[in-house]
Amino acid sequence: MNRRPIILDGDPGHDDAIAWMLAKACPELEILAVTSVCGNQTVEKVSYNARRVCTLLGIDAPIAKGKRSPLVGPEMNAPSVHGESGLDGPPLPEPVMELDELSSVNLMAKILRESDRKVTIVATGPLTNVAALLLSHPELKERIEEISFMGGGIAYGNWTPAAEFNILVDPEAAKIVTGSGIPLIMSGLDVTEKALMMPEDFERVRAVGGQVAQIVADWLEFFYGFHKTLGYEGAPMHDPCAVAVLVHPELFQLKELCVEVETQGEYCRGTTVGHDRKPANARVNLGVDRSAFADLLIEAVKTYKEDSHE
Ligand code: RIB
Ligand code: CA
Repeated sequence: MNRRPIILDGDPGHDDAIAWMLAKACPELEILAVTSVCGNQTVEKVSYNARRVCTLLGIDAPIAKGKRSPLVGPEMNAPSVHGESGLDGPPLPEPVMELDELSSVNLMAKILRESDRKVTIVATGPLTNVAALLLSHPELKERIEEISFMGGGIAYGNWTPAAEFNILVDPEAAKIVTGSGIPLIMSGLDVTEKALMMPEDFERVRAVGGQVAQIVADWLEFFYGFHKTLGYEGAPMHDPCAVAVLVHPELFQLKELCVEVETQGEYCRGTTVGHDRKPANARVNLGVDRSAFADLLIEAVKTYKEDSHE
């Protein structure tokens, strides 16, 4: 199989962790590196979480610490959603690996330079690291196959009425990425809020058995706990969409649009405006076969049963 080489860049984060679980389970994907970015929690906390998640899942790839703060704006975290640790809920194994001595940007650049194939970046947090990579190594743009990112929302926001969290944390970074000319798949709230894992799906995950299944079910329960207070029927699998669309695009509805990011504005900073009045710069993910998507996540959990990474 001709596997797609990827870099996972995120701010784990419950849904980042589930996205990484899916990525590791997909034989179509080859994880070359993991980079943390400040978002759901501080970069120190999400870097520790990244090491714990990679230990649990058996992801054998270098892990580098990302940017401490957004390119321009203030740091913004989401303890109300992911807890003080950034990954509250079930206890996790202590990391078996240290952070790479390189920064996230330098590790990404090293991977891009050394890979014999173009590399896909799967970004599930603010786009700070990705933008910093493009700013400091513009010559490496051609080594990037595409960027599949969770962020934005054509119809609405979540952290503000107009802006989704990942984009709002670093709109300047998102503007750099959407203006880069690199092929983009944007999985924003338009699709991720339809990609729900329902409480009955949590039990299907738990029924798989084994350490990873129990922890993923606990992550889902915790993540749903916040969203239930807002009236959600299930846990929105924001970040897993950015992975799933790469391996099963047939489950999604993609539309070519021009996506532009608002970096000014008192009320609309971080808004992603999608339209067809200029040439398209992204394939925007607008819909999903929810049931098939849930089945995909559950099948992914099953791959850990045999060689559970105790
Ligand atoms: O708005 C959802 C996004 O913000 C997800 O990536 C979640 O992990 C948080 O980072
Ligand atoms: Ca995230």
